[in-house]
Amino acid sequence: MPTRYESVESGRLVKLPRLKEEMPTTVPENIKTLMVALGERSYPIYLGTGTLERLPEVLNDLAVRGTIGLVTDSSVGPLYARRVRQLVEDSGRICVTHTLPAGEAYKRLEQVENICGTFLQGRLDRTSLVLALGGGVVGDVAGFAAASFMRGVPCIQIPTTIVAQVDSSVGGKTGVNHPLGKNTIGAFHQPRAVLIDMTLLETLPDRELCAGVAEIIKHGVIADAALFAYLERESDPILAKDLAALEYPIRRSCEIKAEIVAEDEFEQGRRANLNYGHTFGHAIEAVSEYRLFLHGEAVALGMCAAAALAHALGIVPQEFVTRQRHCLQAYGLPTRWLELPVDAALEAMHKDKKVRAGLMKFILPTEIGTVVHRTDVQEDQARRALESLRVE
Ligand code: NAD
Ligand code: GLY
Repeated sequence: MPTRYESVESGRLVKLPRLKEEMPTTVPENIKTLMVALGERSYPIYLGTGTLERLPEVLNDLAVRGTIGLVTDSSVGPLYARRVRQLVEDSGRICVTHTLPAGEAYKRLEQVENICGTFLQGRLDRTSLVLALGGGVVGDVAGFAAASFMRGVPCIQIPTTIVAQVDSSVGGKTGVNHPLGKNTIGAFHQPRAVLIDMTLLETLPDRELCAGVAEIIKHGVIADAALFAYLERESDPILAKDLAALEYPIRRSCEIKAEIVAEDEFEQGRRANLNYGHTFGHAIEAVSEYRLFLHGEAVALGMCAAAALAHALGIVPQEFVTRQRHCLQAYGLPTRWLELPVDAALEAMHKDKKVRAGLMKFILPTEIGTVVHRTDVQEDQARRALESLRVE
């Protein structure tokens, strides 16, 4: 079966023969190729089972000459770094590994300096390439290290969580947290390829799986009612980590993200749709000091608050609020936080980097599959939306 070069434009998959010459000619049938269409910086997302094994070929396609800097974390490294290192060495290249401590608490600038220290000791240079092997934290930190090291070296994302496979590995947002704000230090640095190997999800803890599904539910709400309905219907096989059941929502999420990023790489407009649930969600992460909720869980709470706000503004019926809540609950995601400190959360929302010229922007649903941007929300309306999370 020949390679399928697919991209998503206007919601349709289209062939991209333009890129055919630049890409490998044989991709096994169990691996799909999607393209993020960014002109000369277009890149493939390889999605399937056993995708990791294609790494040597991908490095050869990219004609990488230098040493490879593999960045992973202390949970993922022991599981998969050896195999990745082997694949790099099999391709005739040297691999230098840096292992971050696992967890959001280590998504900090200090870790970027540590990574660069390992790279310098390992004699990486401008011909080098960074491999980010892990969840969204590794992807964001390693991606930012790649954007900064020697003023920028290329990067390949190898995402190992659902959050990373459906969201953070695609689109080029990289960065770290500052104590005063999440993701406030960073750069846009598109990867040169994304290798999504669903078999790596087999070791993912159940709670992390569910947190990742929150981002897929988000994609359903902002862009695809059929995807949302699939998630409502197929919660049993998805929760059982049936890879056949997971393939469609992961692929659809990548398609949605690829389409949006191709249209609005630097978030001047439509890309902000991807922040649905995040204005409230980031504030919830901040006030819980990144300890109580996983990122996806905070996004789930944020989507509930956004839906309550949309209902209060009269743009969605109560039925929407209930339907979204039931879908989140089917995956064991939180939809209430009875102890939520509302004042502190409101303050955190004001500090969010999505605030522009003092105006908070909210992405609000109008129905499943469509959202609007609103900057006319009053503080007391946002407060009431947060308070709705405290109601049993
Ligand atoms: P994470 O990277 O912290 O991973 C979750 C945990 O699972 C970690 O302990 C990790 O070591 C472990 N893990 C990862 N893969 C595993 C596997 N296959 N088997 C066993 N354990 C595994 O968290 P996450 O949810 O993947 O990512 C959240 C981060 O992503 C947040 O910092 C968020 O801001 C960021 N994010 C970025 C973007 C973007 O566009 N750049 C988008 C969404 C989220
Ligand atoms: N996760 C939001 C974005 O990539 O824009």
